Amino acid sequence: MLAKMNQTRAMHWLGRQLLNRSNPASYFDPLTEAINPMWIQAYTPARVERILVETHDTKTFVLRPASRWSGFHAGQHVNICVDIDGVRRQRTFSLSSSPQLWQNDGVVTLTIKRLPGGLVTNWLHDQLEEGAVLGLTEAFGDFLMPAMPKPVLFIAGGSGITPILSLLETMAAEHFRAPVTLLYFVRTQEDVIASEKLEALAARYSALSVRIICTHETDEPRYLNDADLDSVPGLKAREVYLCGPGGLMDLANDLLYQRGLGEEQIHCTLFAPPVSSPLGDETLGGEVSFARADLNVDSSGDATLLEIAEAAGLKPQYGCRMGICHQCSCRKTSGTVINRLTGKASGPGEESVQLCISVPRGPVTLEA
Ligand code: FES
Repeated sequence: MLAKMNQTRAMHWLGRQLLNRSNPASYFDPLTEAINPMWIQAYTPARVERILVETHDTKTFVLRPASRWSGFHAGQHVNICVDIDGVRRQRTFSLSSSPQLWQNDGVVTLTIKRLPGGLVTNWLHDQLEEGAVLGLTEAFGDFLMPAMPKPVLFIAGGSGITPILSLLETMAAEHFRAPVTLLYFVRTQEDVIASEKLEALAARYSALSVRIICTHETDEPRYLNDADLDSVPGLKAREVYLCGPGGLMDLANDLLYQRGLGEEQIHCTLFAPPVSSPLGDETLGGEVSFARADLNVDSSGDATLLEIAEAAGLKPQYGCRMGICHQCSCRKTSGTVINRLTGKASGPGEESVQLCISVPRGPVTLEA
């Protein structure tokens, strides 16, 4: 009983710390003394060592996680936790560096594109400075390289290149002995992320062939087509990895299925939304009505329903904050939300939504 009370007090204390501090760095030191160690493992402090400009809208953040962080496999993601205007925000990003860099130098990189209206990505680009500390979860995800060498085709779009950079670096370091082809789709040459790194990889890793395809440098947009797939030798025997906007992923899936590739050969990364157009181009946000609480809140940008509720002082139930556990599920009685994981829009009517991954698009009413 006493232990439970202490734990409850500690959690209240933690809540006050999180809500009252503007600098995420200050979260971590006191936490270790006050709360359940299992909870602490949810976030590892990571210092921002360097910030590199990749393109006009993409930066690479070089992070040094505390040594207790468990590391990762190439192609995996992490959640980062930052405090923006007193509200804890969590977002998922792919690691763009290789596990070898972590093992040798103790650093990892996240390569992040600024999203129009993106609350967290804009904050990271405009506010986060070298020397700051943010929270990092353990890595997760199964967008992993084949256990045995097999021919591989990567199809990437925009910032969907980030987990693929990690995979390519790892394959090169481990002398992955099978043909590897990358078809990388970008709007214009200026949008190529990590162009020097890709060039260097292609120069030193002879199994790798890289083709960069600009979709918007001609009058007509130029998307993935049959000729692109014809140019890949031995396509039917390849493991195919897709990461990019929803439109590219759907098109690639259709073309590959038409050619008889099996589902088991095609790997898509779950956390493609940071590069998917639905979250990037549409007008997000809107008035959210919490019926039970009798509260209406205006929102803008890509804040989730969970973040909107918390910023308004509500305390909805949640667990993972990443769309897995469903503890945050809530009845929506009207309005449209965008699912951050898939980039897909909900219907306008009544249904259950996960607050932690749902972003309102226009007015939304919840039962909560
Ligand atoms: S908190 Fe786990 S799915 Fe939303």
